[in-house]
Amino acid sequence: MTPREDALTQGWHHRHLLDVDMLSASDIDLVMRTAVEMKEILGRPIPKVPTLRGTQVTILFYEASTRTRVSFEVAAKNLSADVVNIAASSSSVTKGESLVDTIRTVEALGADMIVMRHARSGAPYLAAQVFSGHVLNGGDGWHAHPTQALLDLFTLRDRLPGGKVAGRKIVILGDILHSRVARSNIWTLTTMGADLWLCGPPTLLRGLERWAGALPSNRRLTVTTDLRAALRGAHAVMALRLQQERMAGGLLPSLREYSLRYGLTATTLRWARADALVMHPGPMNEGVEIGPEIAAFERSVVTDQVANGVAVRMALLYLIAGSGPIEGGETHG
Ligand code: CP
Repeated sequence: MTPREDALTQGWHHRHLLDVDMLSASDIDLVMRTAVEMKEILGRPIPKVPTLRGTQVTILFYEASTRTRVSFEVAAKNLSADVVNIAASSSSVTKGESLVDTIRTVEALGADMIVMRHARSGAPYLAAQVFSGHVLNGGDGWHAHPTQALLDLFTLRDRLPGGKVAGRKIVILGDILHSRVARSNIWTLTTMGADLWLCGPPTLLRGLERWAGALPSNRRLTVTTDLRAALRGAHAVMALRLQQERMAGGLLPSLREYSLRYGLTATTLRWARADALVMHPGPMNEGVEIGPEIAAFERSVVTDQVANGVAVRMALLYLIAGSGPIEGGETHG
């Protein structure tokens, strides 16, 4: 069955991807299965299919990015889309143009799909209200990073024994408070049945107990400041960068103390299972939230996360565009 047939028979009906909380478990499963097919395409000598030929994908980033921006560009090009890159720092945004005017401008210039990153939570929702095509959120403020969560899930399913997260103990460690990656991962991982633990210093977990309490009651989520308890028996640990650009002063005594108490190192990782996977969404600050010996560790799947981002973003562009079959002899032209 082709992904398109999957999408039709299983009812993919999302015009935009604004956050993962709009996705059901079966939607998420469809993204995962489509990404497996995209990964097979990436293994071909010419990893390119004509699926999105004639579609213009505009990548509109108001914040810095390496992984998300480049992997969306590679994903769109692998599907034969025309890609337009706009960095807000070198656009008319610097002359005071509003977000709405920018969206209307890129639409007039032929955009069919917009991939957007913005420092303000909710900006992609506003874009989706005024744009007649599709909007994919590449990260908005503290709020959401849906494609990161989906590629993290894909990586876990790919690398965990048994290929599933249900019943597996997964730990997100560090600056949960400011992390859009954590928020989107909380939704996908608990939706798929993981036993999820959030761990960090109290100042970086503030308000999360209440927020977690608003999740459906069948979700397994534990919030703790106790690193040893969090890591004990863990199947995977995801360390997060301290997002100092979003941090008001005074949340941490010092980086050194943070690193000593909450850093993922060869010593602290011993508390987890012997085969525990090490993850990080990047960019990493080695020596702060993660020891350099861990970042390059044999059980680190950090580069898998980056590589899988292309397959997952291809799957999302494909499903959201709702375009024709990806199979067939033609590659590109
Ligand atoms: N994980 C992530 O969003 O990385 P970038 O900021 O490099 O896109």
